Amino acid sequence: MTLAVRIDKVTKTYASATGGIFAVEEVSLDIEEGEFVALLGPSGCGKSTLLMMMAGLVTKSGGTIQIGTTKVEGPYTNLGIVFQEANLLDWRTVMKNVMLQIEIRGLDPTPYRQRANELLRMVGLEGYENRHPYELSGGMQQRVSICRALLHDPPLLLMDEPFGALDALTRDQLNLDIQDIWMASKKTVLFVTHSISEAVLLADRVIVMTPRPGKIGAVIPIDLPRPRQLGTRETPAFGAYAKRIRGMFEEWGVLRQHGETGEVKP
Ligand SMILES: Nc1ncnc2c1ncn2[C@@H]1O[C@H](COP(=O)(O)OP(=O)(O)OP(=O)(O)O)[C@@H](O)[C@H]1O
Ligand SMILES: [Mg+2]
Repeated sequence: MTLAVRIDKVTKTYASATGGIFAVEEVSLDIEEGEFVALLGPSGCGKSTLLMMMAGLVTKSGGTIQIGTTKVEGPYTNLGIVFQEANLLDWRTVMKNVMLQIEIRGLDPTPYRQRANELLRMVGLEGYENRHPYELSGGMQQRVSICRALLHDPPLLLMDEPFGALDALTRDQLNLDIQDIWMASKKTVLFVTHSISEAVLLADRVIVMTPRPGKIGAVIPIDLPRPRQLGTRETPAFGAYAKRIRGMFEEWGVLRQHGETGEVKP
């Protein structure tokens, strides 16, 4: 097994007018090449901060992050990122939005056009190459942004609540699609989500984060056969994983039973 990512005792405190905001506390995590890891935690626990520190777009307050053989000290570009919003440029066609990845990197576009076509076909957007984002549904736009993130064939894909803005059925479909893409490409994926069931359905390991300052509360390997289907969610084994994680959030006061009043415990 080769290590794709090593996060070692990473912390982050943001400066603010009223004092520091302690966002991430001593997170250490190793991710193997080709692994699908879900980062699950309540709002504000520092998930996006951790992702941005991996991409070198937010400076760490302490600790080290190594991706492959590189220590991340500034913007790190040998990865793809997908955000909650597709962030497409409305005046560019679908194809030109995907190719933006190559333009920004100053690479010769010629060899990437065919790959862009292949990726668009893989996500079911063949025939939409010359459409504009405003002609597409939210789910289709998010598919375009996934193609853009994969075009330069990065070994690591960071996804920050990529399906959080989609309706439930589209989200279900994209869960299956991202599993297919991952199984075909064997990329290393770090997938941020608020959804217990999305995390269990997709991941090899679920990293459960505590409320802010976010630290790792539990690491749960998900031993369910692949490819997982939507019906996997109705199996007893799946239910047991989901219940165990829900229990942690209840214990931390992130979720409360009906009738309970509680304070959030760190
Ligand atoms: N640029 C910033 N300046 C100051 N504080 C920040 C900044 N960015 C994030 N924070 C704070 O750091 C904490 C963690 O934020 P972060 O966005 O990483 O959380 P998150 O887990 O991604 O939340 P969500 O699930 O809602 O997206 C929050 O309390 C947030 O207010
Ligand atoms: Mg976030």
